Amino acid sequence: MERVIIFDTTLRDGEQAPGATLNTEEKLEVARQLERLGVDVIEAGFPIASPGDFEAVRLIAREVREPVICALAHANAEAIDRAWEAIKEAKRARLHVFLSSSDIHLAYQLRMGQAETLELARDMVARAKGYLEDVEFSPMDATRTSHQFIYQILEAVIEAGATTVNIPDTVGYTTPEEFSRLIRGIFENVPNIHKVVVSVHCHDDLGLAVANSLAALTCGARQVECTINGIGERAGNASLEEIVMALRTRRDFFELTTNIDTTQIHKTSRLVSELTGFSIPPNKAIVGANAFRHESGIHQDGILKEPTTYEIMDARSIGLPSSTLVLGKHSGRHAFKAHLEELGYTLTEGDIERAFSAFKEIADKKIEVTDRDLESLVAEEMRTTSEAYHLEQVQVSCGDRSVPTATVKLITPDGEVIADAALGTGPVDAVYKAINRLVGVPNTLTEFSVKAITEGIDAIGEVTIRIESEGRVYTGRGASTDIIVASAKAYMNALNRLLAVKGKKQEV
Ligand code: KIV
Ligand code: ZN
Repeated sequence: MERVIIFDTTLRDGEQAPGATLNTEEKLEVARQLERLGVDVIEAGFPIASPGDFEAVRLIAREVREPVICALAHANAEAIDRAWEAIKEAKRARLHVFLSSSDIHLAYQLRMGQAETLELARDMVARAKGYLEDVEFSPMDATRTSHQFIYQILEAVIEAGATTVNIPDTVGYTTPEEFSRLIRGIFENVPNIHKVVVSVHCHDDLGLAVANSLAALTCGARQVECTINGIGERAGNASLEEIVMALRTRRDFFELTTNIDTTQIHKTSRLVSELTGFSIPPNKAIVGANAFRHESGIHQDGILKEPTTYEIMDARSIGLPSSTLVLGKHSGRHAFKAHLEELGYTLTEGDIERAFSAFKEIADKKIEVTDRDLESLVAEEMRTTSEAYHLEQVQVSCGDRSVPTATVKLITPDGEVIADAALGTGPVDAVYKAINRLVGVPNTLTEFSVKAITEGIDAIGEVTIRIESEGRVYTGRGASTDIIVASAKAYMNALNRLLAVKGKKQEV
């Protein structure tokens, strides 16, 4: 069976989703998990975009050795040189050059004709080829470009040394039938196409990204670009887990394989959701909380008699933990560590120590500590390891006929303990105002949501917020059995991200 190359762009196109900003350590953490998942290529970022992007790509290129590490550059000499600089230490590196090709983009954005565009594409691929063997080229907005021009541009870039040609549906406009026609046309009309891998990159504006990608694979494309949980620009990109599980579950139809260790899917999806703050809808295919749950009596009856009556996939194949009730307050450090390992976490001794004391605190408040609680607890630990300001204590007084009042204690980046108090319209408002008095970074709260992670009155509450500052969105998450504490943690998380970005800007 032929193998499909899985090109993951969570750290580049995925991170372009407003509010999905990750810091360098978080990007490295995701890259390491993508390596465990078995992706073939990691698009680690767009180095010319910002010094932060450059640093993250360079770090990933140094540290993550198994997959090919790819850096994106627009068709510009400086961008290509910078991208190369970022990935040159990778064990296996790739440069990905893109240039718009549609009449709309040429007329309004590039203000260039087709002949000039073709020449620039050829020259920039040749420049990238001067640095390394593995060069990918994408004609941006390919699905709104005349087929004849796509054939010409692909022939020219292959001649100049491209080894992969990627066909992006940049604006999520195409349909499976139409995209199939384009891919078949490319195989029939580009004379040197057999020398390269044909790749596809689909966006989900019409909800067709996965369908379009799979259609292209049936026509001979052998690389698919996708993201974890389908995050990305606007409505997002084709979702990696959906493509991989479709290929696996319907191997009889597609007759294609991948290198993905599907038992790592659940964990990778949770990690990306935790770090980006993008919740996974319960009905999301493969990784949604309801994806393997059965509510209807008839379905439950069928499942009990024979699981395949209503299940086309085994939950264990994506690494979904089989047990729900796991540990309690009498569980020891050893059982705790062993269980985390079973869930796929490899933490340092220091992380385990911190997570264990957090676990003991939760176990004191909750009778049952489930896998979901543990995942949330580990995520909470990961969030607080790289923070500038640390929430030391929060205390509120509120209720009917009282003025909500909050006292907050923080530890500053210099280790100093600072405290202040504020009044608010409600307890969360009072807490946020007290934090603002201490941190003093202007921002606007644009979104606030709270959800229970597990069932029951003693469930851990998870708060997700988004704040905006100078046109940029920052996501924050916090979890606790006390939702006011969770709200304070979420705000600190978002503020710390904002401060990290501001700090990086000042360094430049
Ligand atoms: O959607 C797109 O066209 C892209 C390119 C840079 C490949 O992300
Ligand atoms: Zn894209």
